[in-house]
Amino acid sequence: MAAYEYETHEYDVVVVGAGGAGLRATLGMAEQGLKTACVTKVFPTRSHTVAAQGGIAASLSNMGPDNWQWHMYDTVKGSDWLGDTDAMEYLAREAPKAVYELEHYGVPFSRTEAGKIYQRPFGGHTTEFGEGPPVQRTCAAADRTGHAILHTLYGQSLKHNAEFYIEYFAIDLIMSDDGVCQGVLCWKLDDGTMHLFSAKMVVLATGGYGRAYFSATSAHTCTGDGGGMAARAGLPLQDMEFVQFHPTGIYGAGCLITEGARGEGGYLTNSEGERFMERYAPTYKDLASRDVVSRCMTMEIREGRGVGENKDHIHLHLNHLPKETLDLRLPGISESARIFAGVDLTKEPIPVLPTVHYNMGGIPTNYWGEVLAPTEDAPDRVAPGLMAVGEAGCASVHGANRLGSNSLIDLVVFGRAAAIRAKEVVDAEAPVPTPNQKSVDAAFERFDSLRYAKGQIPTAELRLEMQKTMQADAAVFRTDKTLNEGKVKMDEVAGKIADLHVTDTSLVWNSDLMETLELTNLMPNAVATITAAAARKESRGAHAHEDYPDRDDENWRKHSLAYFDGNAATLSYRGVHLDPLTEESEGGIDMKKIAPKARVY
Ligand code: FUM
Repeated sequence: MAAYEYETHEYDVVVVGAGGAGLRATLGMAEQGLKTACVTKVFPTRSHTVAAQGGIAASLSNMGPDNWQWHMYDTVKGSDWLGDTDAMEYLAREAPKAVYELEHYGVPFSRTEAGKIYQRPFGGHTTEFGEGPPVQRTCAAADRTGHAILHTLYGQSLKHNAEFYIEYFAIDLIMSDDGVCQGVLCWKLDDGTMHLFSAKMVVLATGGYGRAYFSATSAHTCTGDGGGMAARAGLPLQDMEFVQFHPTGIYGAGCLITEGARGEGGYLTNSEGERFMERYAPTYKDLASRDVVSRCMTMEIREGRGVGENKDHIHLHLNHLPKETLDLRLPGISESARIFAGVDLTKEPIPVLPTVHYNMGGIPTNYWGEVLAPTEDAPDRVAPGLMAVGEAGCASVHGANRLGSNSLIDLVVFGRAAAIRAKEVVDAEAPVPTPNQKSVDAAFERFDSLRYAKGQIPTAELRLEMQKTMQADAAVFRTDKTLNEGKVKMDEVAGKIADLHVTDTSLVWNSDLMETLELTNLMPNAVATITAAAARKESRGAHAHEDYPDRDDENWRKHSLAYFDGNAATLSYRGVHLDPLTEESEGGIDMKKIAPKARVY
C-alpha cells in the first residue's frame, strides 16, 4: 500500500454534507457554541437540495384552516402506516416553528396579498383528517424553494462561524472497536491531501442514493455516501425497499416538474385526452399521493393509453393556466420544460413519466437524529457519536411513501433536532476522542485498493449494469419474479466490485477514483433495496407487489433492517413505534383518528 500522510482536525461536531439537513444541523450546532465543521464533496449551494422546487410543508394556516394534527394524519396515511408515530408527531408539530425560523433567517418566500408566506396545495395534503378538501400547506419560494433555503442556511452557518471544508470527499467513518464513531477520513479533491477529522459527534447528511437507478430526478452526486459508510461500519439500513417515483419527471431527460404544477391547477391526460386520475382517485384526483399517481400513470401506459409515438408516457397540462400564474408561481419549470422537453408550456402539454425521486429508507435514527444500532433486546439502541439527518437518515417519518413537500420540512426539522440533541449529549469541555488507528488504517487500505484497482471492469460500466438492473427489477410495480431475478443479478453485480479497473491513480481531481468510491457507496444501498423488496410479501406505499396486492399489517407492519457484508445483504426487522409523543389528554392527537385503514384518496 502507498504511504499516506494526513492532516488531523479536531471538532466537537463534524457534519458530512451541506444540503438542507447538513446546513441546518451545522448552523444549529455552531449557533449553540459547539466547534463545528461541515465537510462536503460539492460547494454547499450546489448540494441537491438546490433542486427542490415545490415547497416545504407546515400547517401555518395562511391560506385557510389547518393544524398540526391534520398534517400528522396526512403523513401517517401517506406513509401507509409504516412511519414511527413519535417521529411523525414531532415533524408535524415542529414544522411551523422550523419554517418561521427559516423566514427569520432570511428565506425569500413568495407572499400572499396580505404579506404572509404563500402556500400551495400538494398531493395527499388534506383537511379534517382526510374528510375535507385539499389544504394549501406547502410554503413556497416560487418553484425554487430549495434554492432559496440552501443559500440562506449557508449564509447563516458562515455567520455563526461554522468552518467549511469544501470539495472534501468522505472515505469512511472511523469507529472504535466497541462501535463508537470517532470521526471521518476525507480526501481533499483539489490537491490530493488526506484529512482525518476527529469529533465527538459525526452527523451524516449525505442525501439519498437516487443514482443507483438509471433515470432519476436526483443529481449525479446523490450516491448514498452516508449509507455506504454506515453499512461498512456494520450498521443497518432501514426500509430500503421503499423508493419513491415522482409522477412528473420530464420524459427522456428525467428532470423534475414539480408537483406544485398540479397544485397550481395542472392535470394529467392519457392518449384519449382523458383526465384519468378522476377515475382512480375521485376525491383528490391529480393531487392524490405520489405513489398512487405514479401507479395510475403506469397502468394507463400498460393498458395502451400512453401518449407519443411509442405510447410510453403521459401529458401534463398547464397550458390552460393564466400566464401570470406561470410566470409568478412556476418560472423554473417553464424554463425546464423549454430546455429539456422543447415545450412551450403556455401552449402545449409536457411529456412526463414516473421517475425515481426519493429514498424513504436510510440509516435508522430516532427523532433526534441519533443513529440506531438495534439489537434483539434493544431495538432502539443508539450508536454513540453518530447522527444521520435528511434523506440519508430514516427517522422514520415517511414510512413506505413520502408526501410531497415533507422532504424539505424533514431536512430542517431533523437538522434542527440534531443540533438541539447535540447540545445535550456533546460535552464541549471534554477532549476529542483519539481515533482508533486500526480503523484509520482500514479506511486507507480500502482507498488504496480502489486507487490501484487493476481488474477488468471500468467503473462506468459496472455502474450502468447496477442502474439498469435496479430500473428494470425494482420498479414502480414489482413481482416475485422480477425481484428474485433482480436480487440474484444485484448480488452478482456487487461481487464485480472486486474486478473494477481504475485507470487514473493520481490524487488531484481524479474523477475516476471519486466515482469508484461513489459506486462502492451506491452498491450497498442498491443491494439492500432489492433484497428487502424481494423479502416483503405485501403491497405498501411505494412497494407495489403484484403477487401480494394488499397491505398486510399483521405480518408486515415492521421496519426492515439490511446489513451488508461486502456482496450481499442479510435482513432482520424492528417494530414500528406506535406510541405518540404526547397523550391526547395532554394535547396530543386522538389516536383513533390515525388508526390503520384502507388508503384511498
Ligand atoms: O414536486 C416537487 O416539487 C417535489 C417536492 C418534494 O419531493 O417534496
